[in-house]
This record gives sequence, structure tokens and C-alpha cells, in this order.
Amino acid sequence: MSKVSSVGPKHVAIIMDGNGRWAQLRGRPRLMGHHAGARRVRDIVEACPDQGVKYLTIFAFSTENWKRTQTEVAGLMKLFRRYIQREARNLLANGVCVRFIGDRVRLDDKLVRLMDELELLTSQNDRVHLTVALNYGGRDEVTRATQRLAHDVGAGKLSPADVCDKTLPKYLDTYFLPDPDLVIRTSGEARISNFLLWQSAYAEYEFIDTLWPDFTPVIFAKVLTSFKVRDRRFGAVKA
Ligand code: IPE
Ligand code: IPE
Ligand code: MG
Repeated sequence: MSKVSSVGPKHVAIIMDGNGRWAQLRGRPRLMGHHAGARRVRDIVEACPDQGVKYLTIFAFSTENWKRTQTEVAGLMKLFRRYIQREARNLLANGVCVRFIGDRVRLDDKLVRLMDELELLTSQNDRVHLTVALNYGGRDEVTRATQRLAHDVGAGKLSPADVCDKTLPKYLDTYFLPDPDLVIRTSGEARISNFLLWQSAYAEYEFIDTLWPDFTPVIFAKVLTSFKVRDRRFGAVKA
């Protein structure tokens, strides 16, 4: 019998999937779905404090999403820029501390500047910690981390014998975050698509059919409730 822990997740990560299908179902261009999806983010962020969720990490754009049409990619980049410009004030006022993870090198300068500014603007906030994964891929992140780690070993700052499972996370983009307790993916796909590979080793997963633009705080609350009855053993056997 599973044990009711009644402890909710502190860190929830969401793969916000299904924007394209949401638009297609309405006979609209995929970008419409992305706009509808972006409008959902605020409600979910604002639902976090009452639900005891201190950290929310959302997957906005993967290292593989560049494979999409130029129109969709450019539309998404423009949406990210506008989203930051429009939401900055509200995020600041609501106590949201925003950080971005992913490789910024391939992002355009204007977007990177807005990301840097938003991080700085909200850096003193502590009500909710929102991390946005933008041009993020788990394998890419581990590769970049390994490069930096190898550089430090080469420079004599770190000895190979000191490399352990406590060392590598310090080189990951998520060095400032606890591991996610719960990963939610919307849209019915049961895969993780290169999201938080290292960090999710012991996360609970919830795959739900709802398309991201239809995801509401009520559905969010239900998923969080179901987390509480899960028996997390972390490899151990309980007496
Ligand atoms: C998720 O929605 C958002 C991004 C990947 C940017 P999708 O665009 O993947 O929507 P579907 O999966 O095609 O419906
Ligand atoms: C994962 O969704 C990436 C984001 C939600 C940003 P995708 O739609 O890109 O993943 P696949 O292609 O279905 O695996
Ligand atoms: Mg998708």
C-alpha cells in the first residue's frame, strides 16, 4: 500500500507541450498556440506559493526545436522577447525571481540582453523561483558542464579524484537549484525530450493529456495532490 506523505513538491518542472496541436485543432497557425501557451504561464506561477511550490522550472525551447520551420522559430524568439518586456513588471511585483538555463550563445543579442536584465531586476525576489529553460537540452548542458570541468582539471583547479556526483552538478546550468521533485508533461506524450536529464534521476513523473494552453491552476492543483500519495523510496527499503 502506498504511503501518504502529504508533503507537496518543492520543485516542480513542466514540459509545456501541445501548443501546436491546440492551434491545429482550431484551424489556426501553430504560433497562435504558442501565444495561448505563453498566456498560461502567469496563472501557474502565481498558483505556486499557495501550493507550497518554491521552485518552478518550465521548458520553453529545446536545443532540438531549431529543427522547426524558420517561421515558427522566429515567431517563438519574438514571443520570448515580447513576453519578457510585457511581464517583467508583473514578475517583479509578484516576488518572482527569474533565472534562465540553456545555452545563450545561439540566441540573438537582443533576447539575451532582455534575459540578463530580467534576471538582475528580479534577483532579490524570493517568493517563487521561476527558471525558464530556453535553448536548453540535457545532453547539451552535461556536455558544456563537462567541458568546463575538464578545463578546471587541466588548469589544476580540480583533481580527477575529486570529481564525484557532488562536483558535476556545480557545473550544470542548474547549479543554483534543488533537483525537481515532480516533472509534469502535458499533451499526452510520455517522454522527457532531453529535459533535466541529470537532475530528474529521482523525480516523480506525471504525464497528462491536457494540452499546455488548456492547463489551469485547478489541473495543476490536482497533479500536486496526486504527488502527495506517492511513495518515494530513493532506492531504499522502508521498515
Ligand atoms: C511546446 O508545444 C512548445 C515548444 C516546443 C516550443 P509544441 O509546439 O511542441 O506543440 P505540439 O507538440 O506540436 O502540439
Ligand atoms: C519539448 O517538446 C520541448 C518543449 C516543451 C519546449 P517537443 O514538442 O519539442 O518534444 P518532442 O519533439 O515531442 O519530443
Ligand atoms: Mg511538442
